[in-house]
Amino acid sequence: MFATRPEARPASVEVFVEDRPVMVPEGASAAAAVLLAGIPAIRETPVSGAPRLPYCMMGVCFDCLAEIDGVANRQACMVMVTPGMRIAPQRGARQARPGLAGKGA
Ligand code: FES
Repeated sequence: MFATRPEARPASVEVFVEDRPVMVPEGASAAAAVLLAGIPAIRETPVSGAPRLPYCMMGVCFDCLAEIDGVANRQACMVMVTPGMRIAPQRGARQARPGLAGKGA
């Protein structure tokens, strides 16, 4: 469904979305990698379980919450890809853990 534009920089960075290798241009966001991977959802809403994919791509909607390199609750559209990055679906509601505010907990 999604593809890079012909004039886009070459896809030179390999990341893994749900363990699938995906090549993306340097400087792309993790959310772009999710869309290029073609998976049906990166998270499910905690109340209804509705599937979600990145939507606004600018940090507003939070539909791109994912686990990135083992850290949950990251806004994938706000994170630039790095070689070997691992992007996994966000499962369930965010867990609040005392003393870990602002540390991706
Ligand atoms: S896609 Fe909307 S906050 Fe990331």
